[in-house]
Amino acid sequence: MTNKQLKELLDSLTLKEKIGQMFQALPQIFGEDGAITGIFDENIEVDDVISTVGSILNMYDTERMRKLQAQHLESSKIPLLFMNDIIHGFNTVFPISPALAATFNPELIKKTARISAKESAALGINVTFSPMVDISRDARWGRVCEGYGEDTYLSSICSKAMIEGYQGDSLESDDTIAACVKHFALYGAPYDGRDYNNVDMSERMMRNDYLPPYKAAVDANVAMIMTAFNNINGTPATINHHTNVDILRDEWGFDGVSITDYGSAKMCYNAGVVENHTETAQLLIENKVDIDMMGGIYGMKYLGKAVESGAVSIEQIDECVMRILELKNKLGLFENPYKYFRGSESIPESERKNHREVARKSVSESSTLVKNENELLPIAKDKKVAFIGPFVASNDLTTHWAQIHDKREIGLYINEAVNSFTDLKGEYSYSIGCPYLSDDEELLEKPESPCENDVQQYEKQAIENAKNADTVVMLMGEPHQLFGESGSRTEITIPEIQMELLRKISKVNENIVVILFNGRPLVLSELSKLAKSIIVSWYPGSQGYLGICDMLFGYTSPSGRLPFSFPRKNGQVPLFYSNIATGHDHEEGQFNKFTLRYIDTPNTPLYPFGYGLSYTEFKYSNPSISSSTLKRGESISVSVDIENIGKRDGYETAQLYIRDVKAKLVARPLKQLKGFEKVFLKSGEKKTVTFEITEEMLKFYDKDCNFVAENGEFIIYVGAHSMDNRNSVKFELI
Ligand code: NOJ
Repeated sequence: MTNKQLKELLDSLTLKEKIGQMFQALPQIFGEDGAITGIFDENIEVDDVISTVGSILNMYDTERMRKLQAQHLESSKIPLLFMNDIIHGFNTVFPISPALAATFNPELIKKTARISAKESAALGINVTFSPMVDISRDARWGRVCEGYGEDTYLSSICSKAMIEGYQGDSLESDDTIAACVKHFALYGAPYDGRDYNNVDMSERMMRNDYLPPYKAAVDANVAMIMTAFNNINGTPATINHHTNVDILRDEWGFDGVSITDYGSAKMCYNAGVVENHTETAQLLIENKVDIDMMGGIYGMKYLGKAVESGAVSIEQIDECVMRILELKNKLGLFENPYKYFRGSESIPESERKNHREVARKSVSESSTLVKNENELLPIAKDKKVAFIGPFVASNDLTTHWAQIHDKREIGLYINEAVNSFTDLKGEYSYSIGCPYLSDDEELLEKPESPCENDVQQYEKQAIENAKNADTVVMLMGEPHQLFGESGSRTEITIPEIQMELLRKISKVNENIVVILFNGRPLVLSELSKLAKSIIVSWYPGSQGYLGICDMLFGYTSPSGRLPFSFPRKNGQVPLFYSNIATGHDHEEGQFNKFTLRYIDTPNTPLYPFGYGLSYTEFKYSNPSISSSTLKRGESISVSVDIENIGKRDGYETAQLYIRDVKAKLVARPLKQLKGFEKVFLKSGEKKTVTFEITEEMLKFYDKDCNFVAENGEFIIYVGAHSMDNRNSVKFELI
């Protein structure tokens, strides 16, 4: 449709129809099935919902969706939009978001989103509520499993890559979907790690550290943005005019669709900041929020009333509805409202195979080897291996955000994965050992125990298997019920019952490899003493065990780098590398009472941000800089040589960190990631990695929140992780 036609369509709508476009309903309202991802409010009062509603969330049944569209179009001129949470895959499930960040490979990340778009568009979905780019530095928060880690720069790169993948070159093509970046804003920074809690943050910190990944999404042309559940400095994010209008619309120029989170409009009343829902409706409109997800605030009862009283003008309503119509138009729905309902079968097996290969590759690119004593890994192909742990009983290495919709893509169990390698000649045993959690653990939702009868018997069997093996591979970690939405924990540890099993196993066999399944950084201090090798695998998705076997037996080498600092103890969180300088900075190993530190634990993490080993070894040398001064508007370059000095080929991720040594009245981070490059080096090969340094990279929000780069000294570190200070160079901005 042309803009003129869209405008004519808009003008032809009644107020009720316009407001209907702004309401998003759950399929349950029409007696249909769908995932319930929030509190289901049965009392929502909406008018003639099937004919007026603008969009539906969380429906997965293509045929039912098609019928609903047809039913809707009997009485409406405007097709429905179907939106869903496609977070880390659809039929093919990829590793969870922090794991994707750990790949440090934006091209691969983009590919995963591209595949998700293809698979979900084929089933009738038009919009995904992804990417989630909330920076979080407090691993107690359960939703760290959905974001891209603690770092602003890395998260911004991932944000862009995901959006480019989902949206492709054009929303109009039938295998792309619109992305919806979330949760705007600052949802990942509740002050005590509890989901939904308040965020109080200085304007400067918000702009320097937390907003850039959302901004990167807007710059990448994201079609939609979702407001967050939390209050920001006291005001609910959903009606926070400063973030929603001053920054998002006016400063960044976002002209796409803004949607509330699930029921977050209605929650404004509970937060005690409005007198009634009609006031919320008015504020939502003033915040240029276009769609109310499951809130019931955008209905005649509240929004209609606000229009009637003159508190909201019809022009304001039109502005919101126009943005929704524009999105439907970009997707090509007016021309063909049924174009997305092609079904899984429309994707040929050859393509599905290719999707699986990308998923499998992303397992080793995201899994992070944090310890490998005596090169226990990779395991020789003729060794006796005992696989032990509750995850032996599971073929589901996905999370609640990625239920596989095509049963053909359900993953393999570990034994099935091992058996699929024809050249493995060892002996392999499998034992569950213990349940995921002990019975006395208090949890609202518990994983089903894989132990059908006496737990002691499972333990006995596991110990027996461990005794008879050359190497033990423990498959252990957090069941997915321990993280995710409202999945915050005070202790970010591996369940005690699994640790107890590990202790017992370590007494009979010291060659222990741990494959860790986790949705957040965990405290691994004890585990790191009991295991010789550790691979942090997160939740690796539908090709999980195949990818894990690839690494275990040396067909691939794990090449992930941690997107979070892993603490030594619970009390260290929030923990992140880019600490701001103080007057009391502490030098590790130097005793001085009056410095910034805990008295019982070092400041350093157990495993730092950016860290990860490989089956080979890399040597950095010869750091050099093209000039010791950088003139404004120009650029200089920094390079370093990297050599693979080990026996195997492998990937190394060179990371560029910058320190702004002095800034006028604003203390700056001790280090900030500003670039990285993942290089593949054959054994013995040497490459020079070069980074360009520009004035833009040195900019930050200063004392008065101006975005500037100040003259003066900067230090650059190029290394293997955030604590690697071996290669540094200095320059001055003039
Ligand atoms: C609530 C979650 O916060 C949000 O991330 C999700 O997209 C919506 N529910 C819809 O399921």
